[in-house]
Amino acid sequence: MLSRLSPKNYAVVGCRFGSTIASSEPTGPEMHTAVPGPKSKELTDRMSPLHNTASIRCFVDFEKSFGNYMISSLPLGYNHPDLVKAAASPKFLTSLVSRPALGSFPRTDFSEGLQEALTDVAPKGLKQVQTMLCGTSANENAIKQAFIWHMRQKRGDKPPDQLALDSCMKQQQPGTPHLSVLGFDGAFHGRSLCNLSVTRSKAIPKVDIPAFDWPIAKFPRYKYPLEKYKSYNDQQDKDCLADVEAKILEWNAKKHDVAALIVEPIQAEGGDFYGSPAFFQGLRDITKKHNIVFIVDEVQTGGGATGTGDMWAHSHWNLSTPPDMVTFSKKMLTGGYFYADHLRINESYRIYNTWVGDPTKLFLLQEVVKVIKRDGLLQKNIEVGKEFQKQLHQLQNSHPNKLSNARGLATFAAIDFATAEMRDKLLTDATNNGLHCGGCGPQSLRFRPSLVYEKKHIDLTFEILDKTIKNL
Ligand SMILES: Cc1ncc(COP(=O)(O)O)c(C=O)c1O
Repeated sequence: MLSRLSPKNYAVVGCRFGSTIASSEPTGPEMHTAVPGPKSKELTDRMSPLHNTASIRCFVDFEKSFGNYMISSLPLGYNHPDLVKAAASPKFLTSLVSRPALGSFPRTDFSEGLQEALTDVAPKGLKQVQTMLCGTSANENAIKQAFIWHMRQKRGDKPPDQLALDSCMKQQQPGTPHLSVLGFDGAFHGRSLCNLSVTRSKAIPKVDIPAFDWPIAKFPRYKYPLEKYKSYNDQQDKDCLADVEAKILEWNAKKHDVAALIVEPIQAEGGDFYGSPAFFQGLRDITKKHNIVFIVDEVQTGGGATGTGDMWAHSHWNLSTPPDMVTFSKKMLTGGYFYADHLRINESYRIYNTWVGDPTKLFLLQEVVKVIKRDGLLQKNIEVGKEFQKQLHQLQNSHPNKLSNARGLATFAAIDFATAEMRDKLLTDATNNGLHCGGCGPQSLRFRPSLVYEKKHIDLTFEILDKTIKNL
């Protein structure tokens, strides 16, 4: 989030010039041009004939970057010394140079990697794991696995029979069943064909793409501060749960049974909308009652930044039984999903592709988990999170006409601006002042620092924000 831009305006984050790979962090951001600077503009012009550049904000010199900054999807920031060291080992080099097709020819040390990187930090109650390339492929395959389980139940716990195998080739029932997934208004689960039918945060990824006729339920929209609006917020939970149940009955009656429900712990891309533990406990009860696979999408929330003391935001909920599936990517580096034993598929090639993940990402996560444990980073996140929330609320109090709805769990946080224009101007101005930050939803500023974000970074963050907001 804090950026140091070189004179030529590559984004250089916490760099030490002169060494091949940066190994220490400067005391604060230093800006030499507005963003994008001349070098980024030149590189964009060079790339433009070759590749779409519409979403590029600036080019980054990753060798010179260090620490916790530009991209919110790294668990330990840039060029963490332990990861740089680990990545130079023969295990990494051979995984890179001789990439294995993990579904058929896993490396001999792959199980050990799975155990240490994933199983050891798995959500409570979920022992099975499937690796994938990214968050989108994790959700896509989790949904497929839920459908497969649903149909297996329908066949009396049996694998597909000849009728199913023959009819699916003509895309007819029963092999190609009419099933649905319940998603939520404002949700984001990825931009693939299937996931777009449960993604409803913005129009632009969806427009022109055919979608499944799947139910959309309401997700709570709380008022802040939560304590002040308790009865309003409790009513939100009740209304949304009633809507979920009504939609399930409606789609089941249409003979498009709801086989799975997918939900984010915090609707992130959509604008950082929260649900209470009571809301999620209610969802778990409804999914149990209707025999629906409960999928929790932790692609953005997973990785230890929400102050639960483990890697998972849903640990805040105290569910009576764990979710059936938890998907992940981003700060977990590898994509994938954990799932309950009963969902395991016995046949080969049903959840499969060429790579089924990437061992370099898994091995990197193995190192990340070691560093997290060694440095007590999950516990630290709880402490740092308290200070972060304090300063976020102070910022809101200092700018009551411009800011509202300060909210968050530890360092996973957001705040709203009075208008979308004001938020957009803040994003540009803050970046030019050395704080690279992102928006979500129509007028929110979001915070997603990594686990190496500390008190000194919080002070810098809010100093720059305060100064920038004063001039809006
Ligand atoms: C909650 C959630 N699910 C899924 C995705 C898609 O993940 P990916 O971009 O890795 O495919 C995202 C990405 O922002 C996300 O925030």
